[in-house]
Amino acid sequence: MLARLHSVTLEGIEGIICEVEVDVSRGGWDKPLIVGLPDTAVKESIERVRSAIVNSGFKYPDTQSLVNLAPADVKKAGPAFDLPIALGTLCRTGGFPSEALKRYVIVGELALDGRVRPVNGVLSMAMTAVENGFSRIIVPLENTDEAAVVSDIEVFGVASLAQAVGLLRGDLELEPTSIDVDKIFNVSAKYEMDFSDVKGQESVKRAVTIAAAGAHNMMMIGPPGAGKTMISQRIATILPPLTLEESLETTRVYSSVGLLKKGNALIATRPVRTPHHTASGPALIGGGSNPRPGELSLANHGILFLDEFAEFPRNVLEMIRQPLEESSVTISRAKGTVTFPAQFMMVAAMNPCPCGYFGSGQRRCKCSPKQIERYVSKVSGPLLDRIDIHIDVPAVSFRKLRAKSGDSESARIRQQVVSARRMQIERFGNGKITTNATMTHKQVEKFCGLDESSEQLLKQAMVEFALSARAHDKICKVARTIADLDGCETIKAEYIAEAISYRKLDRKF
Ligand SMILES: Nc1ncnc2c1ncn2[C@@H]1O[C@H](COP(=O)(O)OP(=O)(O)OP(=O)(O)O)[C@@H](O)[C@H]1O
Ligand SMILES: [Mg+2]
Ligand SMILES: [Zn+2]
Repeated sequence: MLARLHSVTLEGIEGIICEVEVDVSRGGWDKPLIVGLPDTAVKESIERVRSAIVNSGFKYPDTQSLVNLAPADVKKAGPAFDLPIALGTLCRTGGFPSEALKRYVIVGELALDGRVRPVNGVLSMAMTAVENGFSRIIVPLENTDEAAVVSDIEVFGVASLAQAVGLLRGDLELEPTSIDVDKIFNVSAKYEMDFSDVKGQESVKRAVTIAAAGAHNMMMIGPPGAGKTMISQRIATILPPLTLEESLETTRVYSSVGLLKKGNALIATRPVRTPHHTASGPALIGGGSNPRPGELSLANHGILFLDEFAEFPRNVLEMIRQPLEESSVTISRAKGTVTFPAQFMMVAAMNPCPCGYFGSGQRRCKCSPKQIERYVSKVSGPLLDRIDIHIDVPAVSFRKLRAKSGDSESARIRQQVVSARRMQIERFGNGKITTNATMTHKQVEKFCGLDESSEQLLKQAMVEFALSARAHDKICKVARTIADLDGCETIKAEYIAEAISYRKLDRKF
């Protein structure tokens, strides 16, 4: 007897519908067999399936089974095929008509005692099921909410193989799970931190506001304990609220690596990722034979914070460069490529010198000018070129630290950011470029016209600080954002002056 049912495998965060054929009428095999490019986890499925079937009180067929997974040229990965293979195997002895299997996409790992274990990537799997015209999906109970985020499909969460069989037989009354996505989204779209936690630091907050308003990457330079980490973690709270679409995209990334927290069906706040400088290339970019997303994609629509920027190996920074430009990561493999979303704002931080206290006025710096120069020159290069704003973060005084925090500052700053972003959207229309930071050189020429005095000021600074052509464009872009924050179409000299002040690393120390 031949059972035919459907499951999904993941390539990156994209799902691919697979047909699972189970032939239990074959004799002549000395053991069951899976064909159709299974990975190790899928190959081992047969053993789990047998135990799960027997331990759930069902009869394992006395003939050996042959399992075929199609399409044959797609690699089938992970343990999510256990449940569909088990149900296919039971098509003769399970007591349900094999037609019952037709309407479902089925995914789930099996424990030896018949429990259904959660699997990664259920959100993408449910989306794929809908795209392919399926009206029902059976998923592990723990993944139910994740799948139910997708509309136009009935989601059945099962805790055990026996429950899945009961559902197919029709003797288990199981309601499809439905959740109110908008409600979940609105409830979870709240940040636990606020900029009012950061005392003093007015000039840093100003620079951060500008960076967020124009989506500019930024670098914070300051002594240990000045609050760089604290500030970076709060930048997400002043960026425009995530849209549901952005939230879903990021949630798919987290779902695909099993990083969704329990009871958290959606990533509704902008993520902040802080990879350590010892992290490997693949950990940052993503990779592996069945590619997993890396830190850059986990930071999608949020913040990638690179603390101790000077300590990151140059070749690793080099790898971040292209994703930063393309807002996505592409990983090549033997067969084709896998693409992950990776649109993030990069926030870097470093000490001003090896000992950390150069120019701090707090402690004496013990470094020689040579050491400082070597330290700073370590950060010049591929990624520094992508950073529009450099800002000093001095340590705050004890008096300021002891001040009481006021009301939410994040909400107020965010309003400014949102209205500046609105001006940018109007300016650029519906094209690929929506923020000042991503303007092309042509757009800089078109949208950053300067008046006589601004022109003069910029020219003077270029000469005095020996700034490059690239720095020139960056100053114009940042000045454009400052004007947008001011609701002003023209770029005034004061905006240029402020933008120039954010090119600290271009100057001589
Ligand atoms: N402006 C501030 N307002 C309130 N607390 C602050 C401020 N600055 C620093 N702190 C306190 O100091 C601690 C250390 O700050 P943080 O870790 O952000 O410093 P850092 O600049 O990242 O230091 P390092 O260079 O060592 O990484 C924070 O956890 C916070 O409690
Ligand atoms: Mg820190
Ligand atoms: Zn020093």
